[in-house]
Amino acid sequence: MAGKPKIMVMGATGQVGGALIPLLAANPTVQVVAAARNHGKAAKLNVPSVHLDLDDFSTFAPALEGVDRVFMATGYTVDMLRQSKDLVNCAQRAGVKQIVHLGACGDDDTRVAHYGWHQFIERYIESSGLAYTHLRPEIFMQNLLGYGGESYVKQGVIRHYVGGARLSWVDCDDVAAVAAACLLDPDTHAGRTYRLGYEAKTYYELAEVFSAVIGQRFTYEPRPPSEFLQTVLAAGAEPAYMKCVFDSYTDLTNGVDLRSDEVFNDFAQITGGSSLTLADFARRHADSFRY
Ligand SMILES: NC(=O)c1ccc[n+]([C@@H]2O[C@H](COP(=O)([O-])OP(=O)(O)OC[C@H]3O[C@@H](n4cnc5c(N)ncnc54)[C@H](OP(=O)(O)O)[C@@H]3O)[C@@H](O)[C@H]2O)c1
Repeated sequence: MAGKPKIMVMGATGQVGGALIPLLAANPTVQVVAAARNHGKAAKLNVPSVHLDLDDFSTFAPALEGVDRVFMATGYTVDMLRQSKDLVNCAQRAGVKQIVHLGACGDDDTRVAHYGWHQFIERYIESSGLAYTHLRPEIFMQNLLGYGGESYVKQGVIRHYVGGARLSWVDCDDVAAVAAACLLDPDTHAGRTYRLGYEAKTYYELAEVFSAVIGQRFTYEPRPPSEFLQTVLAAGAEPAYMKCVFDSYTDLTNGVDLRSDEVFNDFAQITGGSSLTLADFARRHADSFRY
């Protein structure tokens, strides 16, 4: 394996990292290593792994030893700020050459706080002098399977907290496909910021898609954002991050234009494939939604 660039995938046991691992492992020109805090989960990924606990800075340098490229992902916590800063510093010291960062939605002018946090991290990565690509996915379709410890779709009723706002959607598999393209060809994607969202729909429209694809009736029931905050905090989600999500849901419910419905048409150019639709998602996960 010597001589092949080594790519370390963070969040390897999560949705995007988990989808990225097989894409990289299938490519014979690189070595892939999963960075994880949970050995049991890492063992199931069928690639070599290193121990990386974002809450334990002492694990950063050993994990990054010999790594050339990093897929950098953090969890749903304000700690992402200090974790990412130290991770970038350690990557620089370890001789890493490229970072592909999993950020969040929005354009540079966004006032949604946690989108802004990700943008601070982008600027910090840029200041490191390492080659970088920033990924800014819009709303993950996978949230429909569960988010913050909560399930949104039960017995044909989709409950959510954004009123009639139209959102731009992306499947985590497509986020992984873009990440793989960037990690496998750093020069082509160096210095680029890619926004990833390919289909804009309200939850009312989403319910229609689910009904048509799954063949059962789905409806949308808008709920108050306060209920969201109560539920996710009770499920143990991190309060600072979830307060930001709550604020954005409150704005969307009140009709504030957060430009949450912007869609982008560069997926084929970046990956050579077609992006997945909400109908594709409903088809692939029909068993989880059928009642
Ligand atoms: N949901 C959305 O709609 C959306 C949209 C745009 C951007 N994003 C961004 O996407 C990112 C989350 O990606 P995801 O959904 O793929 O993640 P995920 O499925 O929630 O998984 C989180 C991953 O991070 C790992 N992790 C969490 N805390 C850790 C720690 N202290 N040390 C080591 N690993 C840790 C988890 O490991 P364990 O398995 O051990 O827990 C897991 O692998 C966030 O930065 C979020 O802002 C989300």
